[in-house]
Amino acid sequence: MHRRPTIDVLVTPADRHEAMQLDVRTGLSSTPKSLPPVWFYDEAGSLLFDRITRLPEYYLTRAEGAILSRRAAEIATVTGAETLVEIGSGTSEKTRFLLDAMSEAGALKTIVLLDISEEVLRDAAANLSARYDVEVHAVVDDFRDGLLKLPSNGRQLWAFLGSTIGNFTPEERAGLLVDFRTAMGPDDHLLLGTDLIKAPGRLVAAYDDSEGVTAEFNRNVLRVLNHELGAGFDPEAFEHRAVWNAEQSRMEMRLRSRAAQIVEVRELSLTVHLQDGEEILTEISCKFDPDRLRAELSAAGMDVSRKWLDDAGDFLVTLAKPGR
Ligand code: AVJ
Repeated sequence: MHRRPTIDVLVTPADRHEAMQLDVRTGLSSTPKSLPPVWFYDEAGSLLFDRITRLPEYYLTRAEGAILSRRAAEIATVTGAETLVEIGSGTSEKTRFLLDAMSEAGALKTIVLLDISEEVLRDAAANLSARYDVEVHAVVDDFRDGLLKLPSNGRQLWAFLGSTIGNFTPEERAGLLVDFRTAMGPDDHLLLGTDLIKAPGRLVAAYDDSEGVTAEFNRNVLRVLNHELGAGFDPEAFEHRAVWNAEQSRMEMRLRSRAAQIVEVRELSLTVHLQDGEEILTEISCKFDPDRLRAELSAAGMDVSRKWLDDAGDFLVTLAKPGR
């Protein structure tokens, strides 16, 4: 006896396709070549990412889950939030802790989910509707420009978890934090999950696991381009690389061409020339320092209310609110 979720599709498959065309044309015509990570997440890519979150080397998801399970009641009390807005929600697993705590506090009224992947979002919305007797509002949009279009309702807790913010350059990140600040009401809070700087060996292992799941996840972007844009990539002709970039404090995933090759992207009438050993940058995952993050939030007009580490000190969850 539960309510049906509302689903708003603000990005149609056609819009998505057009955005992909533009990203791929731009990225593969640049030097060095790059592809934005948003295109990893077709159905196969989302399943591979789910497997990554359970790998022994990939500590991020477990560390964040441990923090949220331990602090959920405190977060519910401090924020008094009635609405949970989850950005880039994916399968929405870790938010259960928050939702249970808000619900136990008798405050939970609405759940808003924003994600670019319609299938994943529909599943998550259906699961949450079955579990919580509140309004569930799912919005299919790119969070790079969807924040300000979201419905608002009471005191909101904006959750941007999983270190997804690490996928953006410092400039993009500053813009995104200002977007959050602009979308937030005076009594809202932002809950931000960020991976921390640590020994490069552990970081590299987290992005180059022994089972090769991350390698498959990385190569999957080429399969996506093959299906969606009629590209002729042979994923096996590329080697997965995970590199710590100390200057920019970020992990990088790259696909390294095992030979000189020419690949056609039919739908774009684009011919891509790759040299032997040439690399395509497929993802950046910035790693953070708590004090710098505080300064970045402050520059975007937010103050840190609380922050928590996991026991090993690997991962940080920050609760911030609009400054005055
Ligand atoms: C979901 C973007 C946070 O950067 O750690 C996992 C994606 N890439 N393994 C990350 C990812 C390689 C993940 N984020």
